[in-house]
Amino acid sequence: MKQLELIPLSSGTVEFARQLRNKHRKWFFHSEEISKQTHIAWYRKYIEDWWDVMFIIHLDGKPIGTIAIYNIDTSKRTAEVGRLIIDEPYQRQGYGTAAIKLILDYGRETLNVLDFYLSLKSDNWDAMNLYKKAGFVITEKEDRLHGKLYGKH
Ligand SMILES: CC(C)(COP(=O)(O)OP(=O)(O)OC[C@H]1O[C@@H](n2cnc3c(N)ncnc32)[C@H](O)[C@@H]1OP(=O)(O)O)[C@@H](O)C(=O)NCCC(=O)NCCS
Repeated sequence: MKQLELIPLSSGTVEFARQLRNKHRKWFFHSEEISKQTHIAWYRKYIEDWWDVMFIIHLDGKPIGTIAIYNIDTSKRTAEVGRLIIDEPYQRQGYGTAAIKLILDYGRETLNVLDFYLSLKSDNWDAMNLYKKAGFVITEKEDRLHGKLYGKH
């Protein structure tokens, strides 16, 4: 059986994350191309930000995607899930669903989070189906502004 693992983002995988994000940038609210320089500056800040934990999704040791949990609020016990990308050759094989399960387990067990939320572009039907399947429900629509959907687990 294939093994899916979440491995924390590191200086060795930050370039993989940038390339994957640029390849799929149309699905993100900040959809501009990210340069190496900007990404390194972001990474330097990221390692200081305890409330943001990003992972590289590995399949049998090979990086195939990214996922993150951030805006972790320890007093409210809430956190946001996002930055989910499964690289094209690996899509539609259940890995996105499996990665969400792993990050929710991590959030509950390691970070003590009770409630998870997310937002996504309202025309991202693939992601919407995936999040619904993983147990999220749409709570709010912001069609007039950015075509944004909010979901809660
Ligand atoms: C969205 C994404 C993460 C899905 O990952 P995945 O590994 O392909 O998802 P899964 O194989 O676990 O699929 C789970 C469900 O998602 C939905 N789904 C996934 N890909 C789909 C597609 N191309 N068309 C329609 N539904 C799709 C289906 O409901 C699917 O369930 P099913 O296989 O029983 O039909 C992946 O397509 C991706 O990286 N897209 C680009 C980046 C992106 O949009 N990220 C989300 C930003 S909010």
